[in-house]
Amino acid sequence: MNFKLLDFHIFGDERGSLISLESNKNIPFEIKRVYYIFDTKNDVARGKHAHKNLQQILVAVSGSCKVLVDNKKDKKTYELNNPSKGLLIENNVWREMFEFSSDCVLMVLASDYYNKDDYIFEYENISKFKD
Ligand code: TYD
Repeated sequence: MNFKLLDFHIFGDERGSLISLESNKNIPFEIKRVYYIFDTKNDVARGKHAHKNLQQILVAVSGSCKVLVDNKKDKKTYELNNPSKGLLIENNVWREMFEFSSDCVLMVLASDYYNKDDYIFEYENISKFKD
């Protein structure tokens, strides 16, 4: 499957909690870019594209949002509301993020630098996932 939820280990003690994310260890690619989305209005949807080559992991480090992922074989909506869960989205997967809580900070780890040419903006142009 080219999308799945990952569970990150929480280092917790009486002081609180800590999660560490490391390239090619608990993150299955080399992290070349990190960005985060915040102050998103509850009634807007973001994303609405796929990528030709990019792999990404989405983590709601605060608050919550929903993420629809669709590879034309399977389609699923995840609610991200826990900083210890990361949604891995590989290439050729359509994604839409919506229903952002007002306190949502959605952090995205990406396997490559920003490249507009890597975007697929038309749903029709993604190919069906094959096992
Ligand atoms: P956009 O792709 O529309 O965000 P989303 O996928 O959440 O709908 O990106 C918004 C703007 O930010 C757009 O002008 C492109 C720019 N941008 C960068 O410059 N670098 C990045 O790494 C990303 C993700 C976006």
